[in-house]
Amino acid sequence: MSAHYVIQGGHPLRGEVTVSGSKNAALYTLPAALLTSDPVTIRNVPRIADIREMAEICESVGSTVEIEGEVVRMVTPRVTSVAPPTELVARLRASFLLMGALLGRSGEAECPPPGGDVIGSRPLDVHFIGFRALGANVERHGSSWRASAARLTGARIFFDYPSVLGTVNVLFAAVTAQGTTTIVNAAAEPEVEMLADMLVSMGARISGQGTPILAIEGVTALHGTDFTVIPDRLEVGTYLLGAVATHGDVRVTNADPLHIDSLLAKLCDMNARVEVDGCSVRASGPGELRGVQVQAVPYPGFATDLHPPMAAALTQAKGVSLIHERVYDNRTLYVNELRKLGARITTAGDTVLIEGPTVLGGSTVRALDIRAGAAVVVAALAAEGETTILDIHHLDRGYADLRERLTALGAMVERR
Ligand code: EPU
Repeated sequence: MSAHYVIQGGHPLRGEVTVSGSKNAALYTLPAALLTSDPVTIRNVPRIADIREMAEICESVGSTVEIEGEVVRMVTPRVTSVAPPTELVARLRASFLLMGALLGRSGEAECPPPGGDVIGSRPLDVHFIGFRALGANVERHGSSWRASAARLTGARIFFDYPSVLGTVNVLFAAVTAQGTTTIVNAAAEPEVEMLADMLVSMGARISGQGTPILAIEGVTALHGTDFTVIPDRLEVGTYLLGAVATHGDVRVTNADPLHIDSLLAKLCDMNARVEVDGCSVRASGPGELRGVQVQAVPYPGFATDLHPPMAAALTQAKGVSLIHERVYDNRTLYVNELRKLGARITTAGDTVLIEGPTVLGGSTVRALDIRAGAAVVVAALAAEGETTILDIHHLDRGYADLRERLTALGAMVERR
């Protein structure tokens, strides 16, 4: 059997936990560093498998990447290839950011369709609309996508959907394009805002970060930077939901509570107690929890990546809860895993219905993707008895030191 967790549930999470830098935001910073030949230092990078994979991908096109704890030092004096190997790109979704980064740096890029969690159809049209609007020629080249441009030129671009990676990719191509680019209906996620801030620290001229309209005035070249990644709001959310689901009391430090308004509002609706104090946020569930309705939508709405652990927590709330998933068309596979633990949970289209409260019982379940994994962890913590969680490599991709952090909060988790 491959690595798995064995969780003895029924112990409320209590105490203080610190979270790492944002997985997704950190993943964008390495391709961003490809845009300059100067050294770039990135701090507060989570120690997770996805970062090591991204480092390998950047090395395959000419970067030297050193990872020392939570600090990444990267330099790319010269791009040695504009086509990262298929087997590396296939490992994670964010690898497709090399398209925009290499297009911006070298005027050409070739990438196969990226890997990533199986949570929906996950098209790439927004990326290509953006590249083409900037004057790039984008075509299929065997099983890869190839983009090239003698010169990228600024344009006004409308995105049908505020794709997160689509926005980052087009930002990469636009920062050194000639003239001004405006992206209308850009993603406003804090990770995208941070990435734009990082590019500004490298000499890019961008305004509108954190809003749906980004304006980018092209510059001739970017320079190095020393930049710190924002806290992981999804990790913060997962620990808070674990606290509430187990009727515990957890303070999460190194957080940015302003990035989780939607979650905090829902926790309050659920009758949980929430306290915010600067960079820390505390949640507890001392009383009876109430069922709520949630819409998983782009930021600043409720994060789709917190939908599965939220569903797990809602198994402990009284009444019927509904989660409407508006981002992905295949996010709800985790539902079957929660059922194995005794959850009364069903789906109707993209809506998940949860009836509670339910006394969950231990079983053997799978972490189907990172956030489906977070759902079974939260449920297992709340369940009576022993739960075995298989396929935890998915959790390793997104949650640094998960076993250690949960154990410090009083959970009984073994990795075998
Ligand atoms: N979409 C389009 N056209 C496109 C691109 C996307 O219609 O060209 C649609 C997709 O079909 C999907 C929705 O947009 O339904 C969301 O896709 P988006 O492009 O915004 O997602 P992403 O950029 O591929 C990032 C995160 C995801 C997170 C989403 C939404 C990374 C590496 N991934 O993915 O994170 O769920 O944004 O916030 O940053 C995770 O961390 O577990 C994770 C999956």
